[in-house]
Amino acid sequence: MIGFVWAEDSAHNIGVDGHLPWSLPNDMKRFKELTTGNVIVMGRKTYESFPNGPLPNRLNIVISRDKNYQVQKPAILINHKDELFNHVDPDDKIMVIGGSTIFQLFKDDVDTLYVTKIHHDFAGDTKMTPLNYADFKLVEKKEGTTDEKNIYPYTFETYERSTNV
Ligand SMILES: NC(=O)c1ccc[n+]([C@@H]2O[C@H](COP(=O)([O-])OP(=O)(O)OC[C@H]3O[C@@H](n4cnc5c(N)ncnc54)[C@H](OP(=O)(O)O)[C@@H]3O)[C@@H](O)[C@H]2O)c1
Repeated sequence: MIGFVWAEDSAHNIGVDGHLPWSLPNDMKRFKELTTGNVIVMGRKTYESFPNGPLPNRLNIVISRDKNYQVQKPAILINHKDELFNHVDPDDKIMVIGGSTIFQLFKDDVDTLYVTKIHHDFAGDTKMTPLNYADFKLVEKKEGTTDEKNIYPYTFETYERSTNV
């Protein structure tokens, strides 16, 4: 199973200057719940946005075209999408966590979309790759709770692929 996990603002922005445009701890909590114990697949720029190297308790797979790129152990570097299947089992949950270029790379393979829609406009330089939502069915929708640390309104949505590509 391949899932996408991401958060986007009202204009589909996902990043600015190599990091997230917002602080939303409740979304980080959901991200942790969805990815812990699973495989996470990310682009080199998203990997570099992590302040402390690979995320714990998940197999971190980083994609770069640079064969000499060094990732911190126990993360794994791959240079091509096809190499992913040398490192995962057929039963693994593969969570593609971005950025935009990696969502684009896997958009015909993804089964499940886990999106946090943040109802606010931020400055951004990276947008979510366009997806054909007609191929997916909304299976879960949950309004987020706001508080002093989570000030922007947001909705958690889950979609399952309903048509074959
Ligand atoms: N809001 C969210 O949920 C979310 C999620 C993830 C990321 N982000 C944000 O998005 C931004 C980063 O996204 P991005 O799209 O600019 O970068 P990215 O997808 O994280 O990384 C891009 C890099 O991935 C490698 N790559 C891409 N396609 C490849 C292919 N077909 N084969 C081999 N390697 C390939 C290349 O690395 P090399 O240049 O090394 O060859 C490329 O420069 C940051 O601001 C980050 O914080 C947001």
